[in-house]
Amino acid sequence: MLCETLGESRGETAARSISAWERLVRRPTPGNESRQSSIALGGGSINIAWQAVDRHAETSHRTHIALRWLGRSGMARLISYSGLRDLTNQFANVLVGLDIGKGDRVAVLTGRIPELYVAALGTMKNRSVFCPLFSNFGPEPIRTRLELGDARVLVTTDRLYLRKIAPLRALLPRLEYVLIVGEDGPAAEIPGTLDLAHLMAAASDRFTIPPTDPEDMAVLHFTSGTTGRPKGAIHVHGAVAAHHASARHALDLTPGDVFWCTADPGWVTGTSYGIIGPLTIGATLVVDQEEFDAERWLHILEEEQVTVWYTAPTAIRMLMRMDPARFRSLDTTALRYIASVGEPLEPAAVHWGEAAFGQPIHDTWWQTETGAIMIANGPGAVVKPGSFGRPLPGVEAAIVHRCRDGGVALETTPDTPGELALRAGWPSMFRGYLAEPGRYNACFRDGWYLTGDLARRDADGDYWFIGRADDVIKSAGHLISPGEVEAVLREHPAVADAAVVGLPDPLLLQMVKAFIVLKEDRSESESVRRDILGHARRRLGAAVAPREITFKADLPKTRSGKLMRRLLKARELGIPEGDRSSLIDDGA
Ligand code: PRX
Repeated sequence: MLCETLGESRGETAARSISAWERLVRRPTPGNESRQSSIALGGGSINIAWQAVDRHAETSHRTHIALRWLGRSGMARLISYSGLRDLTNQFANVLVGLDIGKGDRVAVLTGRIPELYVAALGTMKNRSVFCPLFSNFGPEPIRTRLELGDARVLVTTDRLYLRKIAPLRALLPRLEYVLIVGEDGPAAEIPGTLDLAHLMAAASDRFTIPPTDPEDMAVLHFTSGTTGRPKGAIHVHGAVAAHHASARHALDLTPGDVFWCTADPGWVTGTSYGIIGPLTIGATLVVDQEEFDAERWLHILEEEQVTVWYTAPTAIRMLMRMDPARFRSLDTTALRYIASVGEPLEPAAVHWGEAAFGQPIHDTWWQTETGAIMIANGPGAVVKPGSFGRPLPGVEAAIVHRCRDGGVALETTPDTPGELALRAGWPSMFRGYLAEPGRYNACFRDGWYLTGDLARRDADGDYWFIGRADDVIKSAGHLISPGEVEAVLREHPAVADAAVVGLPDPLLLQMVKAFIVLKEDRSESESVRRDILGHARRRLGAAVAPREITFKADLPKTRSGKLMRRLLKARELGIPEGDRSSLIDDGA
């Protein structure tokens, strides 16, 4: 690991840890004490990493803990703002040494380890583009994203490399450098890769951030449409204005806060609020390497004295299954604000928050494309359980209907369902889908960005979520493309055709279900079912693969051959099949 281990156990005083970290992280180079990283800021230059890290490192805030990392093994690592500045400077210099520059994509597939945070911010310092990948993805989604994103560099761990990347490497000729982090100590020596710790040790911890245009690409997030091809949402450095403002006004963050965003940076929440927004505020990030574990999470809230907690309804539903007495014995007096994102937050969850933590859970609504929270039950709002609140200052939202002439009609009658739209132009708005201008342009009409979500607005101006207008699946907070899953299913030698839908699930919100047409010479059997499910898990990863399969003789399609997933879903649920023409062709 590139960040030295302090050997601190959780709960030891921050002050002691800060000075220990400062001693360890400062390299014994002359002039260290007066070292400042500098930015050649010309008029209007904005760099996310400078706003998040260096700005604080140049003030008395530099000894404040930026990152409190909780490892699987029980170890904790603390990185101060100045420590993070130095490490991210080193990483930026590593990229320079490899001739990786402005606009070059640096993908990161690591799980939540300190190197991920260093790589993300160091990449942005160098004006290269941070492209996070979810470490639970299987090889297929990883390959597609590395290829579409045109990644020149991949930062990953030795274990993930051997399991997921090595078998694909020959298919990725444009991937020039793989930088390896050791998962359990020093990185294993792997041909065709470089040891990140060695490169870091040799790199200077001084770096001058070049002038960065607010419109320079900073982050590339892949998200799912209905088709098999993921969409690379382009985000720019200027988005930091929205990250900062929303961290303050939707999450109530201040520099003294200990903030725990439970999302993985492989997804947009884990980048915008698991890294950028809270650091621009000067808060302390809590990062847990481990996957969800109810007892562990309660322990973290208590032990780390988390003050603001940002999580997701699937996790909340799992905690709601615990014995209420457990919460009575929990000391969460430090916890003063809880927020949720990614799926509908049901009224029962809001009430549960009140019972378990003495406060409501504040819903926030946004998307990969919006880059930052757009609508929320912010601090001070009267939370109406079930509503996701009102637009943040500077955000204009509306309920609209798509017209046949290509425009939109605004819905003015309260409580009437329609599509949620946002007036285009907020600072963190995505600037394109990589190499797909048609798909991007199809999202906008009459100056409105159409979100693909169905919602209603009540007479007070509060918004209520109804569902997706397209076939995209939400499972455990993750957006899943039915097309991407279907493409992998069709690779199986027994499969002639496949359709994938999301069915209601009490825990995950939606469960991925596949309908399979077998090839004529194959017949249904338990072993074929298991084989297809196993193939999908291996190729896609457990978070994306279907959990259930039903065999069908054929699949409903339009005359032009378009799969009618809605119909399959309605039949499965025994609900009316509805107006077939209402399916939105969103170009996705
Ligand atoms: O359908 C909405 C749902 O998540 C979608 C965006 O997913 P993604 O791009 O992966 O970003 C997730 C985290 C920002 C939206 O189109 N969604 C997000 N927040 C909420 C929500 N659904 C209901 N309530 C929310 N608060």
